[in-house]
Amino acid sequence: MEKVFIFDTTLRDGEQSPGVSLNVKEKIAIAKQLAKLGVDCIEAGFPISSPGDFEAVKAVAESVEGPIIAGLARTREADIKRAWEALKYAQRPRIHTFIATSDIHMKYKLKKTPEEVLKEAVRAVQLAKSFTCDVEFSAEDAFRSDVSFLCELLEAVIAAGATTVNIPDTVGYATPWEFGEFIKSIKEGVPNIDQAIISVHCHNDLGLAVANSLAAVENGARQIEVTVNGIGERAGNASLEELVMALYTRGDYFHKYTNINTVEIYRTSKLVSNLTGMVIQPNKAVVGKNAFVHESGIHQDGVLKERRTYEIMNPAMIGIKGNNLYLGKHSGRHAFKMHLKNLGYEIDGEALDEAFDRFKELCDSKKEVTDEDLIALVDTETFKGPEVYQFSYIQISSGTKISSTATVGVIVDGQLKEKAAVAKGPVEASYKAINSIVKEDLILKDYVINSVTAGKDALGEVMVQIIYDGQIFTGRGISVDIIEASARAYLNAINRALNMRKREETIKKAEGM
Ligand code: KIV
Ligand code: ZN
Repeated sequence: MEKVFIFDTTLRDGEQSPGVSLNVKEKIAIAKQLAKLGVDCIEAGFPISSPGDFEAVKAVAESVEGPIIAGLARTREADIKRAWEALKYAQRPRIHTFIATSDIHMKYKLKKTPEEVLKEAVRAVQLAKSFTCDVEFSAEDAFRSDVSFLCELLEAVIAAGATTVNIPDTVGYATPWEFGEFIKSIKEGVPNIDQAIISVHCHNDLGLAVANSLAAVENGARQIEVTVNGIGERAGNASLEELVMALYTRGDYFHKYTNINTVEIYRTSKLVSNLTGMVIQPNKAVVGKNAFVHESGIHQDGVLKERRTYEIMNPAMIGIKGNNLYLGKHSGRHAFKMHLKNLGYEIDGEALDEAFDRFKELCDSKKEVTDEDLIALVDTETFKGPEVYQFSYIQISSGTKISSTATVGVIVDGQLKEKAAVAKGPVEASYKAINSIVKEDLILKDYVINSVTAGKDALGEVMVQIIYDGQIFTGRGISVDIIEASARAYLNAINRALNMRKREETIKKAEGM
């Protein structure tokens, strides 16, 4: 069995999904969970792209041990130096530099000749190499590049010191058969290829990212670039959980292994979904709500007799447990803390107090508090960051033949502010009331409601997206009362937007930008 390295880019390409903007605390939480999952490399961000991204990559480099920490940089000198500034704190830093190599990108985007691109790539790798011995080079839009030019360029960057060469299908255009052949021609056409690891980075525009990555592995790729839940630019990237479980479940066919601790997959998937606000489709392979649900009577009967009749993976292997009851109204703070520890959360101090208070509130309105409820609650409470506007209460009067009236109480600078508003429905009325307290220019872009678990008293989970200052921000709120969850989600998105603006302003001021 040969090893396939897992390069996770959830915090970089994944964060390029429209509407996803994670704060530093959330990025560290995801990075720590990825380390627990056993990924080989975490791409923590693109340091030159914004002061916030720089800060996040630096924070991950300083606090996450185990995996290699990578930062993205174009081939420009300033990008590489900035990436190193953020990465130099890591135990195992990697600079990941890239330039496009396809005719269409070189001609229209870069306005450079192939010779200029090759020279720039080599210069970039040499500069990166002067900072760290671990340098990855990516040929952006590699799959649509002229293969003989690509081979020439890869030979040159490997000679300059690149230890990993990445072949992205940037626009998700390849089919598995072609992509496998493409990797094979690189393996055969680059004389010094044995001095570097071949990596692939597939986008999912045609739904083929996972299949293309597997075809590449069959033909010599030994690193695959993935994101949790397949999030990423446009239709996303190859999904970590699908690739890892395909390699594992079909070990008889691929003869490869990864370092992934599969029982952490479900927890990682939930955390990323909860913190990014990217909802997982129910029929998503491996981690979707329905992935292990058998609806047909024939299937149910088969599974009861022998699980493997209709299940090729054991849900316990990816960390899915039953919906058992664990804590209730009479559980104390210590039991609550210990139970969270078992679920993989180490929280203390104010964060623990807040989560415990909300847990107690939940016990008053919900008979059975499950692990799923607790995870949703803690993910919402623990990483939310400072609250400029803190939810206090909501009161609604609504009906089929009357307009809805909402009165909302919000704590601002320690003072309770209350406003009422009337609208056609209760959510709209509550958002109008919040707007009259917040007085910012906001547009509600998206609103999604889901239940965390089944049952009449299920916890409602609302995800919203707002546009503030031209940027999209996601917010999340949970409660057994869906109007309260809606108000909390809206305030959460507003707080995130204001925190992000404040943070970027502070960093810019400190750097004299
Ligand atoms: O899709 C792509 O080509 C990328 C590169 C920067 C690796 O994300
Ligand atoms: Zn990409």
